[in-house]
Amino acid sequence: MPESVTINNLNNITVKSSSALASLSQKVFEKEEKYSAHNYHPIPVALCRAQGVFMWDVEGKRYYDFLAAYSAVNQGHCHPKIIEALKSQAEILTLTSRAFYSDVLGEYAKYITEMFGYDKVLPMNTGVEGGETACKLARKWGYEVKKIPENSAKIVFAEGNFWGRTMAAVSSSTDPSSYAGFGPFMPGFEIIPYDDLEALEKSLQDPNVCAFMVEPIQGEAGVRVPKRGYLQSVRELCTKYNVLWIADEVQTGLGRTGKLLAVDHENVRPDVLILGKALSGGVLPVSAVLANNDIMLCIKPGEHGSTFGGNPLGLRVAMAALQVIKDEKLCENSLRLGEILRNELKKLPTDIVQEVRGKGLMNAIVTHDAYDSFEICIKLKECGLLAKPSHGIIRLSPPLCITEEQIMECSSIILNVFNSLKSK
Ligand SMILES: Cc1ncc(COP(=O)(O)O)c(C=O)c1O
Repeated sequence: MPESVTINNLNNITVKSSSALASLSQKVFEKEEKYSAHNYHPIPVALCRAQGVFMWDVEGKRYYDFLAAYSAVNQGHCHPKIIEALKSQAEILTLTSRAFYSDVLGEYAKYITEMFGYDKVLPMNTGVEGGETACKLARKWGYEVKKIPENSAKIVFAEGNFWGRTMAAVSSSTDPSSYAGFGPFMPGFEIIPYDDLEALEKSLQDPNVCAFMVEPIQGEAGVRVPKRGYLQSVRELCTKYNVLWIADEVQTGLGRTGKLLAVDHENVRPDVLILGKALSGGVLPVSAVLANNDIMLCIKPGEHGSTFGGNPLGLRVAMAALQVIKDEKLCENSLRLGEILRNELKKLPTDIVQEVRGKGLMNAIVTHDAYDSFEICIKLKECGLLAKPSHGIIRLSPPLCITEEQIMECSSIILNVFNSLKSK
């Protein structure tokens, strides 16, 4: 540890000793603990700066980011083109509300609908709002087009789903830490096992079902990859029973799994597509729901919206973020480097690791029960790599701009940490 370092983001405070440095992190932890609600259990690292695949803590230590803000920073932290779009739009027009037209929304809507092949987009902010929007849209379509009797529409979800923390989202959750203590829950939601086509077909036969909402790969549940052909069969079954297929690609979309969308691995197209997170490259909350006119036009003026949804600042950022994915071939990079990463991780000790799974750069290490994934993440942090466990697995999802050399370096950090556990 250097005796004296300068930390730019802390107003160029010059810190005198390593113990003073350590107390800088401590101060950050303490302030957050004291004044911020205890709704998260963070890895103890106090970050103050990030660029590309790297993040720095307040003590000046550099880390590889292997979480990418839960896949929101696919383009890499503070991407210069995205930040430039943010700055230039911020100086002109940030928010009009949808009470008026802005000169950006039409341009963005054309851009994103052409890119993903849908007639229309409905712009929102967070991912969970995207999910809420898709559910409302599906219910409205259910009543207006499918002619489901009033207040009887049902939406089917898969067990292990995660789409956020609102009342509707937790009502469809099978994870007690999401729903317990928050009832009563939203009616009209049905849950079936994930990756189970028989159960899906049985549910869809109910004429009151308007939609099946599913993540093509379940993220929060532990990077659960369904069997090959699942998505194609979901498409066929939804068509057969006149049910909308809503794909929640908030996490899997935008290159994360090695294709622009995870559904592209099986060349299928959902009726309703939800995007978020990396849609802004991690700069602002920007989400989108895409669908064709027969579905989207079921919602009329005044029936849905958001003050910030479709704001010019977010939309300029989103166009830049999408353009970076294309220009920098991030999907191709994700596909190629994901293979290399999983190949390297085959060398992990099998007495500690049960399985390494994933697609593209959306991966997870599943350890045997005796090993505490939070403790392993702390060891990874000490060795310069930031990852976060979820439901007992260690998720590995770096920004998609990572290079092969960096993937190799990170693989050896991970292998070293796991090998050091062997001597326990
Ligand atoms: C698949 C999926 N959908 C929706 C969401 C909710 O996104 P947000 O946290 O932006 O509301 C998440 C968040 O992790 C997610 O993983």
